[in-house]
Amino acid sequence: MYNFNLHIPTRIHFGKGTISYLSELKNYGKKVLLVYGGGSIKKNGIYDTAMEFLKSVDIEVIELGGVEPNPRIETVRKGVELCKKENIDMVLAIGGGSTIDCAKVIAAGAKYNEDAWDLVLDSSKITEALPIFDVLTLAATGTEMDPFAVISDLSKNEKWGTGSPFMVPTMSILDPEYTYSVSKKQTAAGTADMMSHTLENYFTMENADCQKFMAEGLLRTMIKNGPIALNDPTNYDARANLMWAGTHAINGNVGAGSKPSWCVHPMEHELSAFYDITHGEGLAILTPAWMEHILKEDTLKNFVDFAKNVWGLTGDDDWELAHAGIAALKKFFFETMEMPANLRAVGITDEKNFGIMAQKACDGSKGSFVPLSKEDIVEIFRAAF
Ligand code: NZQ
Ligand code: ZN
Repeated sequence: MYNFNLHIPTRIHFGKGTISYLSELKNYGKKVLLVYGGGSIKKNGIYDTAMEFLKSVDIEVIELGGVEPNPRIETVRKGVELCKKENIDMVLAIGGGSTIDCAKVIAAGAKYNEDAWDLVLDSSKITEALPIFDVLTLAATGTEMDPFAVISDLSKNEKWGTGSPFMVPTMSILDPEYTYSVSKKQTAAGTADMMSHTLENYFTMENADCQKFMAEGLLRTMIKNGPIALNDPTNYDARANLMWAGTHAINGNVGAGSKPSWCVHPMEHELSAFYDITHGEGLAILTPAWMEHILKEDTLKNFVDFAKNVWGLTGDDDWELAHAGIAALKKFFFETMEMPANLRAVGITDEKNFGIMAQKACDGSKGSFVPLSKEDIVEIFRAAF
């Protein structure tokens, strides 16, 4: 196990009715920027409930709605301007990962004198941020308890992650009932995203039983509860287990002590940057293709463990087992979770950008579990096509 340091300062309020804890915002100031997406929180009533609690403690609310899935730097800039103009004390995001990520960079941008895109390209420029709060409405990204935010500038086909301890939320409210209205598509994409967060680290946990067994437990939790939530969206326990597993997949607990740079995420971020696709769908399409590409003699044992410990498969032939584990993952994504199975199915209909996307993904994934060249990544894109 490698050395690590871990400090997760987010206060989590988990469960039914925990939105009442929004009244705690009164301890952080009087004026909040409320950030939300395209309107789901108005349809399902979360907006009204939140406003009641904020009003009950006399907090003045300035609003920024309309955050896009794959949040844009233009929206971040609008939020930063509002924070500066209105002397905002804190930022409250209500929504999924896109809304929360946008709010995080707004909070950092409010304390920065130049363009917020600088903070996306260079995280060392984030030296301060307004306090960040959120009510999570979609189990997927883990942004509710992590330091990361992913922002796009689609005019340049760029989508980059940034991260800073200043962007870890101060408090996150996780009420599984608030995810009942999440569509089948987003439930499946969210499940694939949290599985990918776990898998990006999983194969380098050889000497870290504690993290490895936790990762396998998380993956089994997602594999069990994803399909239940898909087919029975108001099943509280399925939504609750997915939500908590998603948080742990990336909050540092499981990733601590493993070392790889992530590689499937950089590949997917290029697909989103060029084609604005849903993050979790891109990951589901790429992950099995990546696994098949890197399955070799020296990674065989990792895939045998994956097959046995995650999927419960048995057998004497290691190669058969390894392939069966990957096949089980494919069946899970593309049949059980009803996800699009290839790039064409998400609207990527030719190979013209494979080279440039592969080059950028290659630069962003140096140090991955199995090093990938630009040519390797083009092959993975082709296999996923
Ligand atoms: O915009 P609204 O109207 O709220 O609708 C959203 C959006 O259309 C909808 N939705 C969210 N909660 C809902 C709901 N619809 C009904 N009921 C609810 N309760 O779902 C759609 C997708 O929302 P989005 O926030 O885009 O999804 P997700 O949470 O998957 O976030 C994806 C973004 O996070 C980034 C991704 O790259 C992508 O930009 N990531 C962030 C990470 C992080 N901060 O640590 C790590 C991840 O790997 C990921 O890269
Ligand atoms: Zn992700």
